[in-house]
Amino acid sequence: MRKVTLEQIFTHPIAQKYLGRSGQAHAIAVAEYALAISEKKQVDPDLAVKAALLHDIGHYEWYRDGKWDYDLYRQNDIHAIKGAARAHKLLIRLGENPQAAKEISLAVLLHTDSYLPEQNLKRDPLQQVVAEADTADEETGGAHHYKTISEQEALKRILALDNSIEKRMISKVQTS
Ligand SMILES: [Fe+2]
Ligand SMILES: [Fe+2]
Repeated sequence: MRKVTLEQIFTHPIAQKYLGRSGQAHAIAVAEYALAISEKKQVDPDLAVKAALLHDIGHYEWYRDGKWDYDLYRQNDIHAIKGAARAHKLLIRLGENPQAAKEISLAVLLHTDSYLPEQNLKRDPLQQVVAEADTADEETGGAHHYKTISEQEALKRILALDNSIEKRMISKVQTS
């Protein structure tokens, strides 16, 4: 039923490389929040969780003299734009349905408005789920980006998410 699983996305070398920049623990926590919020808002859990997992995949490393430079970051960051493109490329490469890949990457693009000149975004329900899930895991001073998680724990939670999404999709088919 699903063309691509979360496990396939998470274990791909592109995701492994770039999710580490903003923290795998944050990506997984946001994916878990998105699963719960998507249920309340009746949003497709597969799209919501994939977009949530990939929402920060576009981060660049803004280091100056070995330290993260927040001024450089704020002035130059386009991680949502970069992330949307990166997520789309990865999903298509894995064989995702092109319409789903587009919706997921749009939700990545619009998960924040920090890079836009005017901050008055109107988000559709899927995009709202991802933005809300991201906010739910936010900690002061950007501490959510520095949480760590073991490889084993990460994969366990990814597999649990895959399981929950599949169960919800099956029960939806049975009740419709
Ligand atoms: Fe972000
Ligand atoms: Fe985030």
